[in-house]
Amino acid sequence: LELEPNSASHVLVLGGAGFIGSHTTLELLKAGKNVIIVDDLSNSFSDVVDKIALAAQIWCKANGKRVPQLRFENLDYRSPALASLLDEYAVRGSPSPRSRISGVIHFAAFKSVSESISQPIDYYRNNVCGLVDLVALLETYGIYKFVFSSSATVYGTKADLGLPLSEHDVVHHPETYTDSDGNVTHATPGVSGLTSPYGRTKYFGEAILADVAYSNPKWSIVALRYFNPIGCDASGLLGEDPRGVPTNLFPVITQVLTGRRPRLDVFGSDWDTRDGTAIRDFIHVSDLARGHIAALDTKIDAPFRTFNLGTGNGTTVAEAVHALEQASGRKVPSRLAPRREGDVGSCVARNNRALTELNWTATESLGQCASDLWNFVSKSVGTTTVA
Ligand code: NAD
Ligand code: WQD
Repeated sequence: LELEPNSASHVLVLGGAGFIGSHTTLELLKAGKNVIIVDDLSNSFSDVVDKIALAAQIWCKANGKRVPQLRFENLDYRSPALASLLDEYAVRGSPSPRSRISGVIHFAAFKSVSESISQPIDYYRNNVCGLVDLVALLETYGIYKFVFSSSATVYGTKADLGLPLSEHDVVHHPETYTDSDGNVTHATPGVSGLTSPYGRTKYFGEAILADVAYSNPKWSIVALRYFNPIGCDASGLLGEDPRGVPTNLFPVITQVLTGRRPRLDVFGSDWDTRDGTAIRDFIHVSDLARGHIAALDTKIDAPFRTFNLGTGNGTTVAEAVHALEQASGRKVPSRLAPRREGDVGSCVARNNRALTELNWTATESLGQCASDLWNFVSKSVGTTTVA
């Protein structure tokens, strides 16, 4: 296969039908990039792809832009079919692999903390073994720009110190950083108190990627550590629509607001916080999505780099509930319950590295997250697919 010299490049988005992947795909299309989504729909539904395309069309028309190409392949990213797909866009093998894939964003993973405790092998297979084979495959096609979905969960119980978390609180490979006084120092590798098998898959994923990146300077790998993504696109077309029973705070509150659950159990009211409920750094999913564009477009001066994607602001669970009550004009019946096993009391990002190096910062408020979410819920009640 010879590549046409002027043929357009594409971003490959693995897990692009999911919550964060669908929002990121929309932002990529808005930024004029062609996208190929690979998703096996293990935690999403195919109608999401039509909704991404519709939202992109509406936005591009309103802004006088050409609508980029969007392709969807329903497949497990670990199957041999991925290589067949890449063959359409890239020439494999040394000495001169060439490709029209400008970068890969890898969202495809299992993400339930509780399920990871009962099914750790499935989690290690999908989130870790699959990742190793994936980067090996990409290398054969000369595809070296890779963005990985990591998580604030890699900070484990370090979050419980109640201080904003800096990227160097967890590192896997000798990495220099500049402290607030401008001193260049070496971060101490290590990790404390990972709270679940899921968290360990993200820690191991980062560690593997750091080693791979440092083995060949052609790699440019970024691990984005998401804090707590919430909300949805302002169009109201895209939202969080997982299979199974949600356990995250905002999807649970949404179910209470729409009558699918009688009440919210607030896990823990005895944390050392301003109202006793736990503190999280909730970030609008569209802000988070735009962080991926920044990571793809920025030339980073290291083969491997981690970035926190958070707002830097802590919100208590009680304040989050209040924000949704305000947005919906409805009361959220709730009761205080014991702490949930494995939870930390506080988890907030220090986000200056992403600002300095990626020129990215979150812009949307908690109130905007709540009203965008309510807009989506109001539009989709009665039509949202329930597993
Ligand atoms: P999600 O479950 O909505 O999206 C993941 C998508 O990947 C789903 O559409 C699923 O069908 C797909 N998928 C899973 N395994 C696959 C496979 N083997 N082949 C092809 N497709 C596969 O999850 P999300 O909330 O959008 O999270 C995306 C990524 O971000 C995950 O890696 C997750 O661990 C990470 N993350 C999420 C959060 C969060 O709070 N949502 C926080 C930190 C990190
Ligand atoms: C937030 C707060 C709960 C539900 C998890 C993963 C983390 C990351 C994001 C992927 C906590 C409280 C919740 C409920 C409640 N995912 N809560 N009642 O636990 O911060 O992070 O999702 O990487 O790895 O651990 O998010 O939304 O589940 O909980 O009181 O019914 O809301 O106890 O304090 P969490 P969450």
